[in-house]
Amino acid sequence: MGVIDEVKQRTDIIDIISQYASLTKAGRTFRALCPFHSEKHPSFFVYPEQQSWHCFGACNTGGDVFSFIMKKQGIDFGEALRLLAQRAGVAIPSRFEPGAESEERQRLYQVNQAAALYFHNLLLDSPAGEKARSYVIGRGFSPKTIADFQLGFSPNSWEGLKQYLMDRGYTESELLTAGLIIEAEAGKTHDRFRNRLMFPIHDARGRIAGFGARVLDDSLPKYINSPQTPIFDKSGSLYGINLAKDAIRQQDLAVIVEGYMDVITAHQNGFHNVVASMGTSVTEKQVSSLKRLTKNITLALDADAAGDEASLRAVGYENTLDAEVKVIILPRGKDPDDVIKEDAKAWQKLLGEALPVVDYTFNMVTSELDLTTAKGKSSAVDKLLPIIAEIKDDIRQAHYLQKLAHLLKVSERSIEAALTRIRPRPSRGRAEEPKQEVATHLHPLLSSPIEEYCLALLLQHPELKYRQEGLSPEYFETSENREILIAWQRSDKIESLKEGLDSATHEHLDSLLTRNLLSTKIEQKYAECALRLREKFLRSLATKIEAVLALEAQSGGRAADLAKLKEQGVEVNIQLGEVFAQKSRRRSEQRGVRK
Ligand code: UTP
Ligand code: MN
Repeated sequence: MGVIDEVKQRTDIIDIISQYASLTKAGRTFRALCPFHSEKHPSFFVYPEQQSWHCFGACNTGGDVFSFIMKKQGIDFGEALRLLAQRAGVAIPSRFEPGAESEERQRLYQVNQAAALYFHNLLLDSPAGEKARSYVIGRGFSPKTIADFQLGFSPNSWEGLKQYLMDRGYTESELLTAGLIIEAEAGKTHDRFRNRLMFPIHDARGRIAGFGARVLDDSLPKYINSPQTPIFDKSGSLYGINLAKDAIRQQDLAVIVEGYMDVITAHQNGFHNVVASMGTSVTEKQVSSLKRLTKNITLALDADAAGDEASLRAVGYENTLDAEVKVIILPRGKDPDDVIKEDAKAWQKLLGEALPVVDYTFNMVTSELDLTTAKGKSSAVDKLLPIIAEIKDDIRQAHYLQKLAHLLKVSERSIEAALTRIRPRPSRGRAEEPKQEVATHLHPLLSSPIEEYCLALLLQHPELKYRQEGLSPEYFETSENREILIAWQRSDKIESLKEGLDSATHEHLDSLLTRNLLSTKIEQKYAECALRLREKFLRSLATKIEAVLALEAQSGGRAADLAKLKEQGVEVNIQLGEVFAQKSRRRSEQRGVRK
């Protein structure tokens, strides 16, 4: 049994939730005042048989024990899993457990620390470091900055670092694994970083995970970086996070820039909430690592990078954060380092004028078009609608649909119709739509076969990505399946899927990726499976609403609450009706095919 299943088996949702809400038994369920929002009349229910919860009030959402803890504590799936595992006395193998470093990883952090010290001392006072010293002075870095960032210099030598570290008891193989030396030809190794200004890259806990290294002149490549190692993943790291995290939390805002130099100059000028994505565009993993510090992120984009693609990605980050992402656009040809050095106030002003990414994209797209013409209108829709379609938050999506309709002077209906064409999502925009799934099984099953079958199909057949079939994360009742679906929806490639997922889910993911599936009629199977999931979700919601209604009627509940619940029940039944209609259409189509 996997760790996740073991935790589930040893955890009772009633025990957990009763720490946060005072539950009273009501028939086969428990009810309470919702622990997520304040209310006078209890609309929060826990279902021991299904090991699930649901709030019929303002939250209008539900889930399993993991999603409860995630929502209550504001943490991600992996953290919730660890918390519950600890409570249940389930040992999480060390590769899942960031707290318990393996000895190998500890050695790698140590060797990096030793290397950083070696480089730093050479920068501070070796004759060989003279050129690097004048370089950093030329860039305006103060002694304090050099010390804070532990900047260093790697001498122009093939074995300087290697000798130094091996004298201190590190093995050649450790240096190779840490990426500090390179195997040039069989059996021969030499220092990776030579004659460069060294930037140790720390993780949030202040350990050195890797290095960036800049030439001291205009030669190329300008920077080289540590390779991927057991402790370093450049695309998941944020340069400067160790020094920025307190400020990010205090200011409740993180600013993401591109480069090492940008971070250093920002910090030296008092902007301490700045981190760098290190060249590549910001990744999902970087964004989610900030989530525990703040929900507010501003991206500093250069004028060339700020295209549709960047906006689309930024909307993905908004969905991760469940908050708006803002952007500032740098003056053409300048990076934050240039801007701040020229005039720190100008940087402050740019930050103050940061626009929500979707608004910015609106401005950018519409400024290039003549919106009085039919052609201009339709190309605005072509560019903006895919971005609006990505917005998960219903209210924000509706806001931008309205904005687009206004701008183009066309009816909202026609925009909504265009939206359904590009992404048919069930009853999009109906605010009273029940948002989250509930379990249907009578025993807390450890796995959900349809969910897993559906995920295996999606994972093994990338072409299905573009057949939406209205599949929604809320149909997945188990948190780990839901996590995988969300990661799949966000990632471009199956290979990069793991990046966005907590390591605790990797085992489960691998089993889905390698599951044996018949490879015929894939699209049809997927469509059926998506429909079944939706049906399952709606049916179970309908049952729950009925049960609550019965309870309310018995206890003489308030008329307003009853009316609202009834309305929800009607809505669910309408949607179920749609599902049945679709099922019978599909059946008759199949009969047609067979004839
Ligand atoms: P830039 O080329 O904008 O460099 O790359 P920079 O940080 O402004 O440096 P200066 O001001 O020219 O000295 C931005 C970031 O992209 C990554 C580095 O993290 C760099 O800081 N990068 C760039 C690389 O990793 N490799 C490269 O060859 C170039
Ligand atoms: Mn620069």
